[in-house]
Amino acid sequence: MRSEETVRIVVLGAGAGGGLPQWNCGCPQCAAARQGLIAPMSQSTLAVSVDGEGWVLLNASPDLRQQLAACSSLHPKGLRDSPVKAVVVTNGDVDHIAGLLTLREKTGFTLHATEATHRVLLENAVFGVLDPALVERRTITLDQPFSPLPGLMVTAYAVPGKVPLYLEDGAPDLAMLGEQTVGLRLQSGEHEAHYVPGCAALPDWLVDRLTPAAAVLFDGTIWTDDEMPRSGTGAKTGARMGHIAMSGAGGSLERLAGLRGRRIYTHVNNTNPALIPESAARIAIAAAGWEIASDGMEVVL
Ligand code: MLT
Ligand code: MN
Ligand code: ZN
Repeated sequence: MRSEETVRIVVLGAGAGGGLPQWNCGCPQCAAARQGLIAPMSQSTLAVSVDGEGWVLLNASPDLRQQLAACSSLHPKGLRDSPVKAVVVTNGDVDHIAGLLTLREKTGFTLHATEATHRVLLENAVFGVLDPALVERRTITLDQPFSPLPGLMVTAYAVPGKVPLYLEDGAPDLAMLGEQTVGLRLQSGEHEAHYVPGCAALPDWLVDRLTPAAAVLFDGTIWTDDEMPRSGTGAKTGARMGHIAMSGAGGSLERLAGLRGRRIYTHVNNTNPALIPESAARIAIAAAGWEIASDGMEVVL
């Protein structure tokens, strides 16, 4: 196998917004993480490389500074430089964009986002700290492959989702198909993987698209749709947050039962009981062949 066809995916942060433990949460999973019984998770970011030298970040979480520090492949090789050559964001959620502020210190990279998400960044003046002379903002056209690194092709496609929480106005369309929430197809040579950290529903066309991939890293936010109201941690259902549940009729376990490659849940919320190794949720997931991502996990294709 030629080296440029090896895709290396590192999960820098496997958690959903808030991470594990979340600062204000005393749920069983957050408590277990504080007690050292289960591994903590930082927030939702992947790093991908095909040559081990240049890397693209998929999303930029608020924990990015620590995530870069924890991954030696992402350390500078010179006085002022970084192996991080590009960032691709899948939506404008805080857990996916706040880390851009960490990347402000005068090293260039290319920032890929849809026009809708670029607009969100432009309208929030604080992102102006990314010096336009160094950080090139490139617009992703849906369904049109682009190359954030030599040898790696990425195609963004709309998946059912909603606008970011802070842009909700009244009752948002919860499963809109547009530029606000995208999935990413990663491709190098014969290798194909998908990254879909936020997804409200799994229509047949999306199931078909994910089925042949060697690896799918998919929205693992919640186990049951009513998990937050039922556990007393919040009022919102998964559907209201734009996240499909793992379990139940029409859930991702059922809909994605036919995936051919490695199946990995990421963007896992701290309320998700599958984080507890002996839970019924974890047992069901494992029986269906799913892994739960963890910080530092590597997927090599
Ligand atoms: C989500 O994934 O639903 C968002 O990250 C929620 C948030 O903005 O905290
Ligand atoms: Mn999120
Ligand atoms: Zn919690």
